[in-house]
Amino acid sequence: MSHLADDGASGEPRRGFLTHILAAGIGLLVGTVPVLAGLAFFLDPLMRKKAGAAGDGFLKMPVTLEALEVNGEPQLVKIIMDKVDAWNTYLQQPVGSAYLRRTDKDKVVAFNSRCPHLGCTVDYKTAEKIYFCPCHASAFAVDGQKQNEIPPRGLDTLDVEVRNGSEIWVKFQQFRAGPSDKIPVG
Ligand code: FES
Repeated sequence: MSHLADDGASGEPRRGFLTHILAAGIGLLVGTVPVLAGLAFFLDPLMRKKAGAAGDGFLKMPVTLEALEVNGEPQLVKIIMDKVDAWNTYLQQPVGSAYLRRTDKDKVVAFNSRCPHLGCTVDYKTAEKIYFCPCHASAFAVDGQKQNEIPPRGLDTLDVEVRNGSEIWVKFQQFRAGPSDKIPVG
């Protein structure tokens, strides 16, 4: 009996204290969850961007070194890769194209096919051996140098590596159309 009476007398303030602690904990949890969710929402694209940037940024081209003749005609290849904007990743999207030209036994030169004037896609004219832009008649030599005063600069070169003997890997990049300097976009 006296045992129960003791518990009642000394347990009251303790229960009150525990109730306060519990209430404070629940309050903290309720307040923290939305903050953490918001933080995750903000960080998500940044984290995805980091994940998308894994590797060295080079893409394996759908042609091999053997498929290109030394000093032969440039070959146009479509560039398919994951596209990331501020909040979304679009898997395997066409993002542009590049001309590949083999200039030596194990050397390949790559150009972004976008005209540096205003961004149309340039064609390669086999007979004249020039790249030509149908939009405003920019012309470029086979080595990418501009051939008239219309384009602000030559064709934009891309980094290329030959790996494992015959694989062609390109670091695809877009550049701003208009300026005389080659300025990467993004
Ligand atoms: S966009 Fe190519 S010449 Fe203007």
